[in-house]
Amino acid sequence: MGFVHKSVLLAESINWMITDPDGIYLDCTMGGAGHSRAFAERLSPKGRIIGIDQDADAIAAATEKLQGVKCNVDVIRSNFKDFGTVLDSLNIDKITGIFFDLGVSSYQLDTAERGFSYMQDGPLDMRMDNRQKFDAAYIVNHYKEEELTELIYNYGEERWSKRIAQFIVAERKVKPLTTTGELVAVIKKAIPKGARQAGPHPAKRTFQAIRIEVNNELNILADVVTEAVGRLSPEGRIGVITFHSLEDRIVKQTLKKLARGCTCPPQLVICVCGKTPQVKRVTAFAPTDEEVRENPRSRSARLRGAIKT
Ligand SMILES: C[S@@+](CC[C@H](N)C(=O)[O-])C[C@H]1O[C@@H](n2cnc3c(N)ncnc32)[C@H](O)[C@@H]1O
Repeated sequence: MGFVHKSVLLAESINWMITDPDGIYLDCTMGGAGHSRAFAERLSPKGRIIGIDQDADAIAAATEKLQGVKCNVDVIRSNFKDFGTVLDSLNIDKITGIFFDLGVSSYQLDTAERGFSYMQDGPLDMRMDNRQKFDAAYIVNHYKEEELTELIYNYGEERWSKRIAQFIVAERKVKPLTTTGELVAVIKKAIPKGARQAGPHPAKRTFQAIRIEVNNELNILADVVTEAVGRLSPEGRIGVITFHSLEDRIVKQTLKKLARGCTCPPQLVICVCGKTPQVKRVTAFAPTDEEVRENPRSRSARLRGAIKT
């Protein structure tokens, strides 16, 4: 299967991110290089794109997609939490722009063997990086009932989390769950029929929760955004595309905090921390109605940006 993924907020991302054709840009979630390729086309032979992804399939697809561009290109398999080490290894200190398009690609979602999909049967995997041992099957078969309840509630915002956790635990006593199809069947049993009729697929929220846990998606986010801003040159830009309210809230609050600078308690009349704003012009873009019509997966996307002071 080819690497199919439609880049979201593409025009908005290019316009926001690319301010200097000779600049150095880091794409921390390169995927199939939809955004990276479009960025590269705006750069001169002096410009540079560094692309990171932790998924081996993405690295292969991006390498191919970036062939023939005239700027400098580096494609590196890594978790973006280590982007600082990647820049150090390339002897790069400050960069012009840093970009994140969070979550999974359509390719990952639609490839049944990767186990991300509640629509197709596959192994309970959900790892973006297959070098990692910890996968969805481990969570589903080993987490305590209370841990599952909390996880599905917090990361899935699923009101039936307690029942889903109960049903998973009952089912795995009979036989460990090994496929996405088995997990979907248990979730459907756990959610009362009346509640299942309206709204999205009944397994959507639980799958999102397990995926976030497998890939540790939220815990690293605030620190990575802060570190990213630290590596920007003055007037450099950060852009982060988020897909659900949990990650969006983290990015929004982190950028706001960096724009405020001062961390003194509000009751202090004079600042004593001495911290100054790290960013200015914190902004956000949503997809147009036309994009949502053409690509329903873009519906919940937001591009959040800020400029380094
Ligand atoms: C939404 S896709 C990016 C699509 C890409 N912008 C495009 O237009 O083709 C997100 C990608 O980020 C990768 N990814 C997510 N979290 C990551 C992390 N912590 N470190 C490295 N890559 C990550 C995923 O493997 C996936 O390929």
